[in-house]
Amino acid sequence: MTADPTFRGFALDAETALALLQWQAELGADEPCLDAPLDRYVMPERAEPPPAPPPAAAPAPRDEARDAAEDLVARAEAMAAAARSLDALAAAQEAFDGIELKKGARNFCFCDGNPAARVMIIGEAPGEEEDRQGRPFVGRAGQLLDMMFDAIGLSRKAVDAERALYITNVLTWRPPGNRRPEPAEIAMMLPFLRRHVELVQPQLLVLMGNTPCIAALNQQGILKLRGKWTAAFGLPALPMAHPAYLLRTPLAKRDAWADLLSLAARLDG
Ligand code: URA
Repeated sequence: MTADPTFRGFALDAETALALLQWQAELGADEPCLDAPLDRYVMPERAEPPPAPPPAAAPAPRDEARDAAEDLVARAEAMAAAARSLDALAAAQEAFDGIELKKGARNFCFCDGNPAARVMIIGEAPGEEEDRQGRPFVGRAGQLLDMMFDAIGLSRKAVDAERALYITNVLTWRPPGNRRPEPAEIAMMLPFLRRHVELVQPQLLVLMGNTPCIAALNQQGILKLRGKWTAAFGLPALPMAHPAYLLRTPLAKRDAWADLLSLAARLDG
């Protein structure tokens, strides 16, 4: 039944509609119905809520220490790239204030030997004696280094480029207590070292110990790397055990001798 005041198209006045309603109630119609049957067992379809938008990605927390270290490396790169001569590079590297080691060291230790040399040796960092004199490899390890290279006819004092050596270190300032250079220190000095090699343009590099292998090859494990020719800064490079290690481990001198002979053969060839 319908509660529509029009009944099947006929308009009803209020009185008639009420009479009809009472009549229907007497017949037992006790609830109003719609024209179309209503199935009450069918659950009304619930509209699915729209999918929640993905949570906005939280901005990565800024690592200020890393940003600062990257800025320093970028500054070192700019200063090194601007240097047009070894003197200019030495001045730029000495002026670079990003490296804390500078504050504790006595002297800047840039190089020794003959820049016209065919062989450029790259060591780790100045020790006590190097820090005192401002020249690389002048302590006990340096004396052994001189003897080793002398044995194949090479010397840092040689004027003749064929027989000469040129020597530098990854770090130009002494780390306190001769501790190992830290990765951030190596990263800051690397642009200067790369430019140093570019300006000297040697024929061959010797990487003395782990630290120059980390800097130039991004590899470590000198006892595995030693004696195997590789490439560093675009040049042939020979990793060798550090003379300080040879002083502590005399048996390793046999391998070092083999490495020196390999270097001499390469120069002769
Ligand atoms: N060890 C190095 O690697 N370099 C030096 O100058 C002295 C010791």
